[in-house]
Amino acid sequence: MTLLRTVGIETSCDETAVAVLDADGRIESEAMASQVSSHARYGGVVPELASREHLQALPWLMERALAAAARPPELVAVTAGPGLVGALLVGVRYAAAFAWGRSLPLVAVDHLEAHLASPFLDADGGPAASMPERVLALVASGGHSSWYLVEETGSRRLCRTRDDAAGESFDKVAQALGLPYPGGPVVDRIARTGDPVAVPLPRPRLADSRLDFSFSGLKSAAVRWIREHRLSAGGGVEPDRAVRDLLASFERAVVEQLLAPLDELAAEHRPLLLTASGGVAANTELRRRLQEKADALGLGVRLPARRLTTDNAAMVARAGQLAHARGFWSDPRRLDARPREAWQPPGMRGLSTTSGGV
Ligand code: KG4
Ligand code: ZN
Repeated sequence: MTLLRTVGIETSCDETAVAVLDADGRIESEAMASQVSSHARYGGVVPELASREHLQALPWLMERALAAAARPPELVAVTAGPGLVGALLVGVRYAAAFAWGRSLPLVAVDHLEAHLASPFLDADGGPAASMPERVLALVASGGHSSWYLVEETGSRRLCRTRDDAAGESFDKVAQALGLPYPGGPVVDRIARTGDPVAVPLPRPRLADSRLDFSFSGLKSAAVRWIREHRLSAGGGVEPDRAVRDLLASFERAVVEQLLAPLDELAAEHRPLLLTASGGVAANTELRRRLQEKADALGLGVRLPARRLTTDNAAMVARAGQLAHARGFWSDPRRLDARPREAWQPPGMRGLSTTSGGV
């Protein structure tokens, strides 16, 4: 399989990111601008603001990433969806113009395919690892929580959350306590000093599905507990015992919800490896429990370096590089954003085509 040196562009949510990979998937350069501080006072991402900031940041990030790379890219990969439509459009049209202007091939990347590729990247400058046949992969972020089976022929979603995403539930509970956005990293830190069995929280299962999971009942129960007990984290510097216990109990419940389908999925699909990606894959408790589970099931586990769990362009470049080698490409004159999760096995086929592009 011949792989091309690739520049990846990511603008699906609130990170503007550009990265260049060499032909072995080595991260050669990365440039990123986080919008977290612009959205923080609204407690979540404001779509219009995100688009405008992507528009401002992308040209100079591109310049910086290209200047730091050893040689120019041979392929342009861009996240085309799912995500915020205005934010995606900035990246997609910028990537298309860049590819068109330099006569480079273009490939549209599904943001979830990109997350699935992230555990195989080396954050310390080494080549990317190859993916074994049959990986059972969790993607848990602010917008998605699903298990996938990743095979040579593509990826297939096996089960998912029916309501909130795991990261979203961390963000909402943090917000109810007056903690800053995004809530996940702060909750992770505070929960380590709390008692995870102190607060009884539900782990609802769905009546009509053995595998899908739900976070909204759990989130509402935690928020109710916060209101009833008048809990507040007071900026999160030294939260009191009651706050620490609630967060430890909530975090444990979220992790157990995410891992609940794992035994059944492993028995049915006989994977060779477990992976996790997406912002929530940075979570200490999730990483520990996943390792424990993998040991119990006799499976290998591969987790991305923490900085590659959240949205980044290296994973977009890697997914695009592999997709292009499998024959996918997009027409720069016609490529459009795909805001919705349109997951079709095998993955990228919903976004790219070998016969004219989208
Ligand atoms: O993958 P990501 O950067 O963006 C999306 O595609 O959504 O994920 C961001 C989400 C946020 O909800 C954030 O609170 C959560 O990931 N997150 C965490 C941790 N770090 C980030 N959740 C739990 N524990 C963490 N350490
Ligand atoms: Zn993401």
